Amino acid sequence: ATDLTGRHFLKELDFTAEEFRHLVSLAAELKAAKRAGTEVQHLKGRNIALIFAKTSTRTRCAFEVAAADQGASTTYLDPSGSQIGHKESVKDTARVLGRMYDAIEYRGSGQDVVEELAAHAGVPVYNGLTDDWHPTQMLADVLTITEHSDKPLEEVTFAYLGDARYNMGNSYLITGALLGMDVRIVAPRSLWPDEAVVERARELAKDSGARVTLTEDIAEGVAGADFVATDVWVSMGEPKEVWDERIALLGPYAVTMDVLRATGNKDVKFLHCLPAFHDLGTAVGREIHERHGLTSLEVTDEVFESAHSVVFDEAENRMHTIKAVLVATLGRS
Ligand code: CP
Ligand code: NVA
Repeated sequence: ATDLTGRHFLKELDFTAEEFRHLVSLAAELKAAKRAGTEVQHLKGRNIALIFAKTSTRTRCAFEVAAADQGASTTYLDPSGSQIGHKESVKDTARVLGRMYDAIEYRGSGQDVVEELAAHAGVPVYNGLTDDWHPTQMLADVLTITEHSDKPLEEVTFAYLGDARYNMGNSYLITGALLGMDVRIVAPRSLWPDEAVVERARELAKDSGARVTLTEDIAEGVAGADFVATDVWVSMGEPKEVWDERIALLGPYAVTMDVLRATGNKDVKFLHCLPAFHDLGTAVGREIHERHGLTSLEVTDEVFESAHSVVFDEAENRMHTIKAVLVATLGRS
């Protein structure tokens, strides 16, 4: 049996393919149990600290609901509500929280921060998103893929379009390679993942049988895809000034109905970790609309609202998969 007790989750590569799959199937079991009203609490009396140096809707709520369902309590530390990084070092924060909590979640820019917390906390630490990786999101996406495809993961073709040298692009490339998928990164070359990440993906592919493709060519990249995914073109923490440049570079890579048609797969599904600029109704969106005359960015409203889109299953699955991480690393059986 796979035992993940006491383990950190800082990046996808912390787990073997078998361990990663175990978490996804545990999440499916926990989801079914919750729906059936038969969920058993494995985390009674546990306390979990949630440090958010960047904002969140899904990840925070997923941790809070997952913990509550399982009988654990959480403390939310917002981007300005703790001493971490301002008045107190990461190392000291880790040692303090490690004395009070059974686990710590961290979201912020630096992968080095979450790694340092893990090195000194003495309890499991989970990465709730850094600039480099979004590993809990990958569990949700893989669960969603398994729910919306009859094929084994090794036969699934997955294409990611958009900014690929940030957390989501890196995570998809590595996760696809780890699990043996046909994974395509479709983006302008300047936005491809770092060479070190690509190298690692190619090494993983040797063991897993994954097919790894990086291409600037949309038709080639999406041909035969079962799933097409994208993400925002400018991530949290990036300066507002990069919007113009990103829009110019990534405009052709927006997920439109034409892109879905180019897959040649009438049942193709669309994924997005959210939040999404499918309409420009938010404050940032309105500003972009005024400057560029665009009505959507990385995905059109038509695709987002279509039957191809499984983004709300994906969002719900954040909770079930994060619950699986908590139960697997902290649970008493
Ligand atoms: N997908 C995701 O991580 O969403 P939040 O930023 O709302 O947590
Ligand atoms: N790439 C995005 C993902 C948000 C969940 C960001 O880092 O802002």
